[in-house]
Amino acid sequence: MKFNEEIARRRTFGIISHPDAGKTTLTEKLLLFGGAIQEAGAVKSNKIKKGATSDFMEIERQRGISVATSVLAFEYDGIKINILDTPGHKDFAEDTFRTLTAVDSVIVVIDVAKGVEEQTEKLVEVCRMRNIPIIVFINKLDREGKDAFELLDEIEQKLSLKVTPLSFPIGMGYDFKGIYNIWEKNVNLFSGDSRKNIEETIENEDLQSSELEELIGTDAAETLREEIELVEGIYPSFDKQAYNDANLQPVFFGSALNNFGVRELLDCFVSIAPTPRAKQSDTRLVKPDEKEFTGFVFKIHANMDPKHRDRLAFIKIVSGKFERNVPYLHVRQGKKLRFSSPNAFFAEKKEIVDTSYPGDIVGLHDTGNFKIGDTLTEGEELNYKGIPSFSPEHFRYINNADPMKSKQLYKGIDQLMDEGVAQLFTLELNGRKVIGTVGALQFEVIQYRLEHEYNAKCSYENLNVYKACWVEAKDPKSEEFKDFKRVKSKFLAKDKRNQLVFLSDSQFSLQMTQQKYPNVKFHFVSEFD
Ligand code: G4P
Repeated sequence: MKFNEEIARRRTFGIISHPDAGKTTLTEKLLLFGGAIQEAGAVKSNKIKKGATSDFMEIERQRGISVATSVLAFEYDGIKINILDTPGHKDFAEDTFRTLTAVDSVIVVIDVAKGVEEQTEKLVEVCRMRNIPIIVFINKLDREGKDAFELLDEIEQKLSLKVTPLSFPIGMGYDFKGIYNIWEKNVNLFSGDSRKNIEETIENEDLQSSELEELIGTDAAETLREEIELVEGIYPSFDKQAYNDANLQPVFFGSALNNFGVRELLDCFVSIAPTPRAKQSDTRLVKPDEKEFTGFVFKIHANMDPKHRDRLAFIKIVSGKFERNVPYLHVRQGKKLRFSSPNAFFAEKKEIVDTSYPGDIVGLHDTGNFKIGDTLTEGEELNYKGIPSFSPEHFRYINNADPMKSKQLYKGIDQLMDEGVAQLFTLELNGRKVIGTVGALQFEVIQYRLEHEYNAKCSYENLNVYKACWVEAKDPKSEEFKDFKRVKSKFLAKDKRNQLVFLSDSQFSLQMTQQKYPNVKFHFVSEFD
């Protein structure tokens, strides 16, 4: 197959949702359609039900054995589909934000009864910032939920999206009869008493035909006709360009658990979802069909198997072909590296692969060369942008609890930070180390992993920080900036990239500082140029 055809047949996307909306179930059904798995239950949920560390450890242990769950790839209708796994738990939101830098589109799953939930809002906001094309799947139609129009309103308002339904439910919950597929113009009936059967699809080009009454009954047929008329009156008709430009979001209804409405979603997805997109680097926009390989690290996964200490760095290929055993430039380190066993991912396994194409994810064994955001090229000095760190929410001093093991401790902290588990700040005044995390759970995870993977012990001490702000001075030599650094020296730290950070202790003190030093900028995100 030609290089351009390989690019054209790839779809790399993420499924995002608030926990429990049905992301894992939908993923599994998509894989079933692709023939990538044989039975339900094969996809391990990465959900942390009670927020307990033990849950997290168990999940990580399972994933360490089957790292493949981070990327699920399968073929459907000649299309190579790569699903990137995103943790739903809010304490791992950073991980999801980073994964969103590697997707070309997303599917958002929403629970019909709960509507738009908190995590959905946050994740969709990140997608909007990056202009990622979105398809919405409203799930659990077999249960009573909100009225379809009410839900579409809520999605438009809370998520600031412009929606266009491509399917529409016929009834709901106990009365759920099926779905009218606006995209393909047919009716899908929910069949069988057990409601577990794969649906029966009945072509229905003409909603006015009397056949509709026979299929769903007079009342339901009338309601459906009215509703579809309303849909056509209210919502813009589907436009592929607008969807691709992230200006219009198609909506599907269904029930993932019952495998209902999933095929419709998948068929539409493969025909409209974007092929690998161009990506901005610090020097230029890089297009996927360029000859030379470029890619970037968006995730690092520790190998939880103690016999194999190495890690796996996940690279998204942006342009060109990635080939085994060819030396590539690690731009940040300025050195060439070759990879003898790059992994490609499938639904339940990973395999060594010779050639990979734009849109694909390869896993590279890493002994500590990579950090999240690193770029690989054939020699060009460019860096991909767009993996910012956000201000953490929780901050604690980290102390060494076993002085005999300080080397192990610092190595461990260093590597965990490279993986993006948390952020490390070193105070300017006394060199003390502060860990910042999105959720409280990470502190336990770090402590556990330091002990089990690095044989080091740490303890924590509370520290009152409201937000970490990355500092930018208009003129670093100005008296104003010098004064700021002197007066606030107690609150200043360096992050891992040696950028200056202001750890403000309250919202009030941050506001006062901003007022006092108008030529110093305070950013809540680490990338700001
Ligand atoms: P998540 O990954 O987004 O967190 O959600 P997940 O797929 O794990 O689904 C959350 C719960 O919702 C699961 O039930 C799942 O079976 C159920 N579910 C998913 N899709 C549908 C649907 O279309 N209809 C109905 N009625 N339920 C659905 P659980 O009881 O939490 O877990 P389990 O014990 O069934 O696995």
